[in-house]
Amino acid sequence: MKESISVKYEYAKQMLKTELEILIHSFEQKHGYMPVEHIKSRIKSIQSIERKLEKKGYPFTKENIEKHVSDIIGFRIVVSFISDVYDIVSLITHSPNIILKERKDYITTPKESGYSSYHLIVLVPIYLENVIEYVEAEIQVRTVAMDFWASLDHKIRYKFKEGIPEEVKKEMESYAKDIQDLDKKMYYMNQIMSKYQ
Ligand code: GTP
Ligand code: MG
Repeated sequence: MKESISVKYEYAKQMLKTELEILIHSFEQKHGYMPVEHIKSRIKSIQSIERKLEKKGYPFTKENIEKHVSDIIGFRIVVSFISDVYDIVSLITHSPNIILKERKDYITTPKESGYSSYHLIVLVPIYLENVIEYVEAEIQVRTVAMDFWASLDHKIRYKFKEGIPEEVKKEMESYAKDIQDLDKKMYYMNQIMSKYQ
């Protein structure tokens, strides 16, 4: 099963990578401004896919993978300012080559943990011997500050697999608030700077 699923996802990831690069490049040409700090992409390992299905209570089959795992292809776009998040999201959702399936705005409404990011689930058309197949991918868009918080949170979750201590949770919630305030200040400074051009 490994080979038969991976080729399709590798191909779709490459297509999406190229499309994102083109979108961002043309945005930069048009506005004379580069909003993206960096982009990362990955394909979920078979073990992680298996773990996710097990957690959700589904047997490890090709059908269940297609149906219940929407982030086999994952992209993370890290930007400077909160306004850039929405510009990038708009760029992606307006592309004729990417089909929007679902969006989750964890910036307007952060998760209980404090996690903040904008998520898109998209479909990428790939062309295989005269048939078009639509492959799902998850795109996370967030600021550098949000990314910093999420990477620490990730380490915490890894360390405390049996449950995160209350003290740690409380601290992280309060840092999430600090991150929000910082992002607002950074945005404000960006506005001030634009007055001086
Ligand atoms: P699943 O991916 O099946 O869990 O579906 P979901 O609907 O819960 O997806 P959601 O959009 O909430 O989260 C998907 C991805 O976002 C995860 O794989 C993480 O990369 C990231 N994420 C979500 N919540 C958190 C969080 O609390 N902390 C961190 N560090 N990352 C998170
Ligand atoms: Mg989840």
